[in-house]
Amino acid sequence: MMKTRQAIKLCSFYELPEMIGQVFSVGGEEIVIFRLTDGTVRAIENKSPHPKGGILSEGLVSGHFVYCPLYDWKISLIDGNVQAPDEGRVKTYNIEVSDDIVNLIFDE
Ligand code: FES
Repeated sequence: MMKTRQAIKLCSFYELPEMIGQVFSVGGEEIVIFRLTDGTVRAIENKSPHPKGGILSEGLVSGHFVYCPLYDWKISLIDGNVQAPDEGRVKTYNIEVSDDIVNLIFDE
């Protein structure tokens, strides 16, 4: 089967503040994107995998990680993995920046 690729425009790259989560609702899923200090943009689901389900857009970003605001789990913004000693994983999404536009990419 041929893969279809869908790009959803989210926002302007230059207007995106660094390290502050921006939340988008896409297809019923809540996604948070972060512009990191290295200039990349990362997208993950906006919910900690911890049973309390903290809101990750309110978390503190350091390097390629976000710290959940509730219990401080450290979550990779690259692969979504919760770092030891905690465990779990959040969904990650593909982002592409072209010109000034930040796009969410779905390959189906
Ligand atoms: S809600 Fe517990 S670590 Fe996020």
